[in-house]
Amino acid sequence: MKKTAITLLAIAASLATASAGDATKKIMKDLHKPEDAMCKKVGRGEATDADLATLLKAYQDMCADTPAKGAKAIWVEKCQALIAAVKKVQANKSDTGDFKKAVNCKACHDMFKGK
Ligand code: HEC
Repeated sequence: MKKTAITLLAIAASLATASAGDATKKIMKDLHKPEDAMCKKVGRGEATDADLATLLKAYQDMCADTPAKGAKAIWVEKCQALIAAVKKVQANKSDTGDFKKAVNCKACHDMFKGK
């Protein structure tokens, strides 16, 4: 009985570590990194409604995620800025100024990306 509890605790602990940053990593690989990344389409004013909906959901997931390093409160602010910026583009496809600012790769990586 005691052994089972310890095993369960160990599993829970390993799941918790595995999830930190995983959503963010996947979003980076799928939506930021590719040559024709979705986030670049937004900047060019070419994102479709479906693209924007995907990005919105992704940034909401990112907001709930814990980054590799850095302060969670500032992370949440950065993700909220991305969410607000996507909503602006949803309302007006050429209103991409806030998005371009919020999606700045280096500014965010310097603070939150591990090596
Ligand atoms: C709001 C913050 C934020 C912004 C903006 C951002 N990133 Fe990231 N990115 C991260 C974090 C945090 C990680 C580290 C994820 C981890 O390993 O846990 C990361 C990791 C990555 C990775 C590595 C993924 C892997 O396989 O481990 C790539 C590639 C990447 N980002 C590309 C980009 C590009 C390109 C842009 C700009 C268009 C960008 N990111 C903008 C936060 C951001």
